[in-house]
Amino acid sequence: MPLVSMRQLLDEAAKGGYGVGAFNVNDMEQIQAIMGAAKETNSPVIIQASRGARAFAQDRYLFHLILAAAELNPEIPIAMHQDHGNSFETCKSAIELGYTSVMMDGSLKDDGKTPSTFEENVEVTRKVVEFAHPLGVTVEGEIGVLGGVEDGHGAGGTGLEHITDPDQAVEFAERTGVDALAIAIGTSHGAYKFTKKPDGSVLKMDVLIAIHKRLPNTHLVMHGSSSVPKDLQDVINEYGGKLKETWGVPVEEIQLGIRNGVRKVNADTDNRLAMTGAIRKVLWTQPEKFDPRDYMKPAREAMQKVVAQRMTQFGQAGHAGDYAPIPISEIAKGYADGSLTTQPLVAAK
Ligand code: 13P
Repeated sequence: MPLVSMRQLLDEAAKGGYGVGAFNVNDMEQIQAIMGAAKETNSPVIIQASRGARAFAQDRYLFHLILAAAELNPEIPIAMHQDHGNSFETCKSAIELGYTSVMMDGSLKDDGKTPSTFEENVEVTRKVVEFAHPLGVTVEGEIGVLGGVEDGHGAGGTGLEHITDPDQAVEFAERTGVDALAIAIGTSHGAYKFTKKPDGSVLKMDVLIAIHKRLPNTHLVMHGSSSVPKDLQDVINEYGGKLKETWGVPVEEIQLGIRNGVRKVNADTDNRLAMTGAIRKVLWTQPEKFDPRDYMKPAREAMQKVVAQRMTQFGQAGHAGDYAPIPISEIAKGYADGSLTTQPLVAAK
């Protein structure tokens, strides 16, 4: 199957009432793990690359690895997404490479660290939408600022410092025309999100629900949504790791989000934990091993297991065959004639 528009994928998720995991990749094994899980569960997928990942793998390697995934899995809809673009230029370069979706994270200035003003965010996000939509490319924006730092991108601090204001979310969605909106509800990137199982004082699901009520046609995105399960932490620590006790976003809270307009769920940390635990186990228990395949194979399997579990929990499992891909040129026409601005897209069977 050719790569699909993330907008089509999210519109279908809205129609089916499920969420779609957006999993980060840096290398071949992670892409294979996601595709293994997608095949196993018959799921549509979003494969996303941060700026750090694009630099680590080199743009063309990563792009062609994701294309290989599409070529080898013609039955699976795949959206290729730029995670946390820090500037118009970053998004433009992803679109020119062939990404079918970009995130313009204008919540931070282009240093990727300093919170921007509302007007700066609207301006740069709008500029990306004006460039992307005529090419049929989906745009995700962010209003409010997440906590933590991922791949050098982030304001740091806790997720509670810049919770999204629902009024601003409405104005932002209207003025930018984004297809999907990431909101800040207390989550942060990385393993250290919460010091105990989060309740409503730190994980603001009430804010998410309020935003969904005001913007029922906007696909919401939950970033920083790894659950950081204890069993994955334990494997790392059992085999010489030094993770401090920590909590992520419970799956049941993500499922509550999905019942309230969340269509894209970003997860990276859980996969990193799964792979690292598997690698540590091999190297710790079998110190004589030196062939990378001896530890990369179990690492890939461990990631596939956690991704397949999330696909089932988010509800995307079983939906890969629901629709045929709409060519990106047709999606562009939908933006041009206005049918894609607020109306969910209904795909041909
Ligand atoms: P986690 O660190 O919770 O996996 O979040 C990843 C993310 O939001 C990528 O944009």
